[in-house]
Amino acid sequence: MPSETLSYTDAGGGRPVLFVHGYPLDRTMWADQITGLMRDYRVIAPDLRGFGASPLETPEPITGVSMSEHADDLAQLLDDLEIDEPVVLCGFSMGGYIAWPFYTRHRAKLAAMVLCDTRAAADSADAREKRLETAQQVHDHGASWIAEQMIPRLFSETTRRERPEIVGRTAEVIRRTDPAAISAALRGMAHRPDSTPLLSQLDLPTLVVVGEEDAISTRDEMTGMAQAIRDAELVVIPGAGHMAPVENPAAVTKALLKFLAKID
Ligand code: MLT
Repeated sequence: MPSETLSYTDAGGGRPVLFVHGYPLDRTMWADQITGLMRDYRVIAPDLRGFGASPLETPEPITGVSMSEHADDLAQLLDDLEIDEPVVLCGFSMGGYIAWPFYTRHRAKLAAMVLCDTRAAADSADAREKRLETAQQVHDHGASWIAEQMIPRLFSETTRRERPEIVGRTAEVIRRTDPAAISAALRGMAHRPDSTPLLSQLDLPTLVVVGEEDAISTRDEMTGMAQAIRDAELVVIPGAGHMAPVENPAAVTKALLKFLAKID
């Protein structure tokens, strides 16, 4: 996809940091991190194709939009912005699934990676089947239905109980998303390969971040991921579920700033 069709935030100056949002979200999930980093870093946060203000184009009907296609869109965006300096890619959940093919296809564009509430493993056979069923159902039931299904899994119980406004904002982002984009992303994620073998090969500074109550990419699974990556650091975000960057933004931003200062 030519990147002039992708919508993105490009703010601040300094070492470039590329934020990649999750499913079925958009770049607004990074609002606090963008504000926290833009004084010292150039922050680029696109809406992936089909999400936020970026168009979907025509997805492949069976396999949807693959993680590799998203990775290539991001590489194209960096080229179009004439960013020659290697970037720090911070990928959240599906954004992390995209980080794996970005690493294999565009290694020279990377200085470091932040893997936030994400997984290296592919879906199990059951999970894949369920995702493909959901991709079908979303046409009948719409984005509001997906929002209802997902919210309890995205946020910690504490956030849902004590900060409904944060939950409401994310639900609104999901409700606004084109069901065709949701379906294409589900198909793309269902067909993604296992990236676990890549972990021991990563040859760049890596930070692993997980909300302590993450129900999707659990603390145990992400601890295993950090242990499999040479010299990776692990930061556990207190009081947060899967949506750590919005549930405890200050802690995530602090972890990012500390990591970035070390690799500067
Ligand atoms: C995400 O937050 O991007 C999704 O929860 C990832 C997934 O469904 O595996």
